[in-house]
Amino acid sequence: MIIAVDGPAAAGKGTLARALARHYNLHFLDTGALYRMVGLSVLAAGGDPHDGKAALKAAETLRPDRIRDEDLRSEAVGEAASVVAVNPQVRTALLGFQRAFARKQPGAVLDGRDIGTVVCPDAQAKIFVTASAEVRARRRHAELAERGAAPDFAAVLADIQARDERDRSRAHAPLIPAADAYVLDSSALSREEALAKAIAYVETRKAG
Ligand code: DC
Repeated sequence: MIIAVDGPAAAGKGTLARALARHYNLHFLDTGALYRMVGLSVLAAGGDPHDGKAALKAAETLRPDRIRDEDLRSEAVGEAASVVAVNPQVRTALLGFQRAFARKQPGAVLDGRDIGTVVCPDAQAKIFVTASAEVRARRRHAELAERGAAPDFAAVLADIQARDERDRSRAHAPLIPAADAYVLDSSALSREEALAKAIAYVETRKAG
């Protein structure tokens, strides 16, 4: 079974996807971490994420087994990831790994932006998690504050809106719900409520 979980930044898709993987005993892949790793590699080498050549080189030499999550969570790396993700060659370079991961037995949950549309269009279950930009900014702000950073709320909101705009408007694999996705608006839901709705949906797909 493959479960695709897509959605905009800070919608709670990572938390939901991890919880679904635990619930169904499936492998889990955070595909955003791949793009973040590419963005981080370019930044660490003193390069510019807009430089297609540098981004492609980083994508082609990416070692997914070397990804350390704690290096990837800053806003600067998220922004760089969103920039390199516009590049179609970078996207193609990361596709094989994602598709091979999705075929692992007994199945996998992948979270990202284009899992249900491009990476795994045949996924048995597709969930598009969303929430208003304000709610997502509030969650991201609290998360950053918890980690000791004290960002300005307005700056976090502006960053989320800029990232949404870039992810939605790019020509290749833009952030849009698959035609057959279940859209889950988590704005007014707790984590547990969102998980319960997602499980109820997946159960209908298993039955069908
Ligand atoms: O989910 P995230 O915030 O870690 O993703 C960081 C960026 O990576 C996001 O702004 C766009 C890009 N991304 C993508 O284009 N496709 C994916 N499947 C996952 C992430």
